[in-house]
Amino acid sequence: MLTTDELIDLTIKASQAAYAPYSQFKVGATLVSKSGAIYQGCNVENISYGLTNCAERTAIFRAISEGERAFSCLYVYGETDQPISPCGACRQVMAEFFEPEAEICLISKNRAIKKVTMAELLPYQFKSLK
Ligand code: THU
Repeated sequence: MLTTDELIDLTIKASQAAYAPYSQFKVGATLVSKSGAIYQGCNVENISYGLTNCAERTAIFRAISEGERAFSCLYVYGETDQPISPCGACRQVMAEFFEPEAEICLISKNRAIKKVTMAELLPYQFKSLK
């Protein structure tokens, strides 16, 4: 099992692969599955800005496409003064796959961590079609 420090290092490394020519803002994500596997992601921008995919969703879609379904935690890193805060679209996608008690670790440029639960990140989430 990786330490918090190792997971932060991996997440910073993931951010270095970001394709962010428009915002110059590189984000990395590391997703840990319940089986212990690690999936990394970065943001991938597009000249049609709305098509941009955030680091969190890249990591989640990557894991899902590999057959994973159960996750224990997600680390997100951005070069921000305060721990980065995922966008609304990512929160909804995260809520699809994380239990309400799951830990989401948000990291700033000085490696400060803010730990929040999925339920804190997206309270009163949409989860029923009926
Ligand atoms: N971004 C992420 O990848 N994750 C976040 O949590 C916040 C924002 C990306 C999207 C875009 O490429 C850039 O950061 C600026 O918004």
